Amino acid sequence: MAEIGTDIQYAKTLLEQGEVVAIPTETVYGLAGNALNVSSVTKIFEVKNRPHFDPLIVHVSDIETAQTYVTNIPEPARRLAEQFWPGPLTLLLPRKRIIPDLVTSGMNTVGIRCPNHPLTRQLLHELPFPLAAPSANPFGYVSPTTPQHVNEQLGNKIAYILDGGPCSVGIESTIVGFDDDVTVIYRMGGLSLEQIEAVAGTVLVQAHSSSNPKAPGQLKSHYAPAKKVIIGAIEDLLQQYPAHTSGLLTFQADFNSPFQFILSPSGNLEEAAQNLFTALRAFDKMPIDYILVELLPEAGLGRAINDRLRRAAAIE
Ligand code: TXA
Ligand code: MG
Repeated sequence: MAEIGTDIQYAKTLLEQGEVVAIPTETVYGLAGNALNVSSVTKIFEVKNRPHFDPLIVHVSDIETAQTYVTNIPEPARRLAEQFWPGPLTLLLPRKRIIPDLVTSGMNTVGIRCPNHPLTRQLLHELPFPLAAPSANPFGYVSPTTPQHVNEQLGNKIAYILDGGPCSVGIESTIVGFDDDVTVIYRMGGLSLEQIEAVAGTVLVQAHSSSNPKAPGQLKSHYAPAKKVIIGAIEDLLQQYPAHTSGLLTFQADFNSPFQFILSPSGNLEEAAQNLFTALRAFDKMPIDYILVELLPEAGLGRAINDRLRRAAAIE
């Protein structure tokens, strides 16, 4: 198992040696390595068992640093970064050649984000290079929101997990790109559509699934627990699936089941997002065959939560 601790200097030393380290962010835990070092980036892909066609997000400490890795920051991107960085927003920007092909899967854009977690901000501030970091889970599985989640799945493959406690947002960053004059959301995430529209004006949402995605985070079957996830009205689903082998994932409703998880009894979407991945992981450990799920209101973070639930339910 990996060591879990709050020693930023140790994390820094490992990263400088080209090793990978799990780091906390406000969204989910990341599996970090030196983004400018091909051998470190290769280790990230190996540990996650991630296909090379799936590009990585590069984490920086501020807009000025981001500027050194991209050729241009379009006006709406600058406004979004000024408003929401540090925060759960990834911008797809035209990359400079210093970012290795492996990081971007050969694409001309690089995903850049300034994460909002005090430990990781300090780490980035002290390091002379940016950190490539995908979510710290095996490819295709649910993202980790605690150091324990990381340790359970990757603990035998990495040396150190920087412990920043449970993630405050709990769902991955929103990915935004710029196609000519159009602002495009490629992945719904911890920054809501409404928040982005308030700064960037009208945006196009292309976060739907497809078998040949621009961002593999758009892959239909992704973020998936091991148990079969079925979406619908819980009352109706309980007519079709046996209650004693079904987990129930609800927004607010209490079904008095030993296998239920209520995301937010008070109906708060931020709280629901914080709890989502812990709930999906907990179901995988319960003696059940199915996870019966109801969708949340399609507004604010509800959109990103529903997106993850739909992908968790997708067959392929
Ligand atoms: O909140 C987050 O974004 C977390 C934390 C650790 O920062 N990271 C994360 O990384 O979720 P990952 O690798 O699990 O998901 C990143 C998604 C991938 O689906 C990838 O395809 C997409 O971002 N992506 C990265 N660079 C891209 C690019 N240049 N063009 C299109 N999609 C890109
Ligand atoms: Mg991921």
